[in-house]
Amino acid sequence: MADAQIATQAPKITRREDYREPDWRVPEIALDFALDPAATRVRATLQVERAGTHDRPLRLNGDGLTALAVRVDGAEAQGWRMDGADLVVPLTGVAHVVETEVEIAPERNTQLQGLYASGGILCTQCEAEGFRRITFFPDRPDVLSRYKVKLTADKTRFPVLLANGDPIAQGDLEGGRHWAEWHDPFPKPSYLFALVAGDLVANRGTFVTLSGREVQLGIWVRSPDLAKTDHALHALKLSMAWDEKVYGREYDLDVFNIVAVDDFNFGAMENKGLNVFNSRYILADPDTATDYDYDAIAAVVAHEYFHNWSGNRVTCRDWFQLSLKEGFTVFRDQSFSADQGSAAVKRIEDVRGLRASQFPEDSGPLAHPVRPDEYIEISNFYTATIYNKGAEVIRMMATILGPDKFRAATDLYFDRFDGTAATCEDFVQCMEQAGGVDLTRFRRWYSQAGTPRVSATLAQEGGRARLKLRQLVPPTPGQPSKEPMVVPLRLKLFGANSGAPLGDEQLILLEDDSRELLFDNLSEPPALSINRGFSAPIIVETNRTAQDLAFLSAHDDDPFARYEAMQQLMLDTLVASAANGGADHGAVIEAVRNTLGDSRLDRAFVAEAVLLPSDSFIGDQMAVVEPEAIFRAREALRNELGKTLAGEWRAAYDGSRANRFEYSPAAKGARRLRTVALGYIAASGAADADRLAFDQFADADNMTDRQGALTTLVNGSSPLRDEAIDTFYRRYQGNGLVLDKWFQTQALSTRDDTAEMVERLVAHPDFTLSNPNRARSLVGAFSVNQRAFHDVSGRGYRFVADQLIALDKLNPQTAAKLIPPLGRWKRFDEGRAAKMRAELERIVATPGLSKDMFEQASKSLD
Ligand code: ARG
Ligand code: ZN
Repeated sequence: MADAQIATQAPKITRREDYREPDWRVPEIALDFALDPAATRVRATLQVERAGTHDRPLRLNGDGLTALAVRVDGAEAQGWRMDGADLVVPLTGVAHVVETEVEIAPERNTQLQGLYASGGILCTQCEAEGFRRITFFPDRPDVLSRYKVKLTADKTRFPVLLANGDPIAQGDLEGGRHWAEWHDPFPKPSYLFALVAGDLVANRGTFVTLSGREVQLGIWVRSPDLAKTDHALHALKLSMAWDEKVYGREYDLDVFNIVAVDDFNFGAMENKGLNVFNSRYILADPDTATDYDYDAIAAVVAHEYFHNWSGNRVTCRDWFQLSLKEGFTVFRDQSFSADQGSAAVKRIEDVRGLRASQFPEDSGPLAHPVRPDEYIEISNFYTATIYNKGAEVIRMMATILGPDKFRAATDLYFDRFDGTAATCEDFVQCMEQAGGVDLTRFRRWYSQAGTPRVSATLAQEGGRARLKLRQLVPPTPGQPSKEPMVVPLRLKLFGANSGAPLGDEQLILLEDDSRELLFDNLSEPPALSINRGFSAPIIVETNRTAQDLAFLSAHDDDPFARYEAMQQLMLDTLVASAANGGADHGAVIEAVRNTLGDSRLDRAFVAEAVLLPSDSFIGDQMAVVEPEAIFRAREALRNELGKTLAGEWRAAYDGSRANRFEYSPAAKGARRLRTVALGYIAASGAADADRLAFDQFADADNMTDRQGALTTLVNGSSPLRDEAIDTFYRRYQGNGLVLDKWFQTQALSTRDDTAEMVERLVAHPDFTLSNPNRARSLVGAFSVNQRAFHDVSGRGYRFVADQLIALDKLNPQTAAKLIPPLGRWKRFDEGRAAKMRAELERIVATPGLSKDMFEQASKSLD
């Protein structure tokens, strides 16, 4: 189809500065679908209005569509033409009714964009530009329409027919078919359109909104999955209540439906009143879902629900503004999750995620600002920068304004822009007005890419101390030199002898290249706690000694800073050890011992704090990443921690056994610590470690313990390993989401033969590239297994490139998302870099490459 031709033509670049208001508005649209997996007829009736005075024709975007009929005001249209994939209709007046008819084949849609089939369900995904694969339309987010949708389908195969908004009418037809009509009273852009048809059942609930309206809730799945939907439904109700309480936002339709499908390119989609989800973010029961899954489900349900205001009621003017809805909504879902359990642990998890995905993006060939300036394929910009750095940017504004003014500012934003398509600039202006602050320079967070580095040097001079701050924003592609950023830093000093705070926490703004702060009347030598709560998404370099860090890891009263001090201590040790072939582990061991022994700390926090930084995060600190040396350094430290603290790990392990599964913050924390302790016991080389792991594996009444134990076994070499892999497979054969874990656990193995194992697993009967979760569980997971992927032979690179080339033919979006690990070649030695480049070049030279892959792979070569 269209994709096959694109790479041979020069790819078209879309630029933010070229934005122009739409020529035509479409206040109303009626859609009539005669649904059939092999051939679906779509009739669209658009009421169009000329915007302003111009004589340009109506341009309707299409992608792979053929117009079977085009009518204007009831008569066959004259003079219409195709321009590439678009339909261009000349119109004479200011308002017309334009009708088109097309036929599409959902069952042949492997891209999973537009209308497609997943496990017998017909469903849609339109963001960003999928609607044009369904019908001809000005497919851009600033064209808002009221939708009336009629669905007709076979009643046996598709007994349930859903679309956006409220159900209006339904009825039966001859020949076993039936129909349903839906009406969405809220004007929306085409990317929020959705329909679902299938043999589905609902877990139903109700929610009474703050003004007393009752909303019917439904989580729709295939009937065997019904028992796994309670957690999602509960999370939905919590989200609805939270958004009323914290943001004053009430739901606005009479129904809110969520449908879970197995084949989905990303997490979920916020279609108005009809969210469509990747089933991994809906289905959960203790036997099949980990605590991580439960948390992720609640977070994604909340995220998509929150979009009803931040995204749907106020949408984006153009796709360069994507972070307007995504950054803000991630910030909202993070705050929601923080309020459900331990806010400190949630913050640690979010920062770890940011460092694992966004920092590398920001320092690599695909770095782009939170508000990008150009793209070839917008799907490539659903990135950690837009989402997670975008959320950090909102968080910084919330920090600068304080809670009351921030709330006033979001009220102003929702009020002022309700029903419109807005920009990031609009949002910042609301922050400025309601907050009474000038964010002129702060706006650089939207325009400049790259993670700022801030060095903080504290020097003591008798009873005084001087803190020198200096910032550097590194060059990124297309942005060789940068202006200083506005960096909000929460900081505090502690007495290095007593552990007592030396004064209150301060919030300071570093707005220029450098700044100095003086601290007077210090009664003892100070230790610096800085960027507390991770108040800015930056890299901080301090002159703190191992002693300072160990001290803060035990005494800092900000849990994030405490965690951070420990991580820094571990990182310094591991980087030194990777570079020099060994290092003194004493300070780390003492700090871990202290943390394990501190009974005031909650178990989840302890588990996070004692975990060593990942291989890749260690690599990020080095001038040239040395995968083998890093792995050995980390294993050596794990081994020594395991041996030296053997008694502590046993105590932690035994102390966090539970009798019965329970999903509560305390029980989750205990499980997390238990598996971390098991990992250290195994790392120590204890004779009974495999037995312990296998017993945990076999006796577990929940997936967290079972998968935790499986991971330990998979990394080892005992005979119990194969038994566990086999048992797990047989137990969960037929459960796709759990088989994903089975593939993923093996792809992430730390063993020497992981590359070989993964090459074998692609031939497994349960492996397929056509399901995105499955492709990610093996290929995606393997490519972030630093040591295995970067095997010096280059076989890991070749394997991933082969898979991506094959996947691109089915699903370009999902394939292109997996390019970044290959694009990190500049960070490696010449031998590896050359091999990585060779694979990228092979990808770029592939005939028929999609523009998604072309953009990612070619940019990665620069
Ligand atoms: N808006 C969806 C969300 O809530 C994701 C849509 C992703 N679309 C894409 N083309 N990658 O995050
Ligand atoms: Zn989103």
